[in-house]
Amino acid sequence: MLEFRDVTFSYGAEPVLRGISFQIPDGEARVILGQSGSGKSTILKLFLGLYPPFSGSVLIDGEDIGKMNERELREVRKKIGMVFQDGALFDSMTVGENVGFYLIEHSDLEIDEIEKRVREMLGYVGLEESIIDKLPDELSGGMQRRVAIGRALLATDPKIMLYDEPTTGLDPESTSKALALMKTLAERKKISSVIVTHQIVDALEIADDFIFIDDGQVVFDGKLDGFRDCADPRVLEFLNPFRRGIAELQRKKFA
Ligand SMILES: Nc1ncnc2c1ncn2[C@@H]1O[C@H](COP(=O)(O)OP(=O)(O)O)[C@@H](O)[C@H]1O
Ligand SMILES: [Mg+2]
Repeated sequence: MLEFRDVTFSYGAEPVLRGISFQIPDGEARVILGQSGSGKSTILKLFLGLYPPFSGSVLIDGEDIGKMNERELREVRKKIGMVFQDGALFDSMTVGENVGFYLIEHSDLEIDEIEKRVREMLGYVGLEESIIDKLPDELSGGMQRRVAIGRALLATDPKIMLYDEPTTGLDPESTSKALALMKTLAERKKISSVIVTHQIVDALEIADDFIFIDDGQVVFDGKLDGFRDCADPRVLEFLNPFRRGIAELQRKKFA
């Protein structure tokens, strides 16, 4: 279980999170939606323990990570895979080195064994093994995102995946494929997943449950139907540009 309990936080004078509470049960996916600057990435940083909350608690499996020391935090982070907006691959390393990075640095495994695992992982995230010696620059944006997901999975065998704007900059086909992979991971591997995005139509494809935040507060937490029908002006303003896409997707989903 992942939980925020009345969390407040600010980087400077201006409050960024103003009393955020939500729960994500094990093995479920939640999409956190909100305008740019509303505090979404900050929520992920607090899950990673990069900053402690000012007040309130961030709990992972019932444990308050704000109260942990560095060593305990490192243990918790081992359960967490993180995928950033741009994939954040190491430019000068090959795909194989990127995906195997953690094992190369932190395990005693033989290089042949690491290569075998990297090849398996590439297959798992839907990439050809033959790209193992390519540099990130030689791949499409969608492939880079898959490499990043593969790297996160191989590094930690995570119970939790955090995705920050995982489909930004991808073409529609790559977006669909990346979303399908995230969905599979959540459903088949029972990985609790937090997907932060401002692209609502993508969000609808992955999750049934949404948390909408605005100006550091939770405005809505629930199912798509309730979200679509929510009369809060902040939700209306956010959803308006997407109304047509939502209607189409709902037709597809429930056809
Ligand atoms: N490292 C930082 N130092 C100071 N302010 C920050 C920092 N990171 C984010 N902010 C501010 O915090 C607010 C929320 O940012 P963020 O969580 O990145 O929002 P989102 O991911 O929803 O776009 C914004 O006003 C942003 O400018
Ligand atoms: Mg962000």
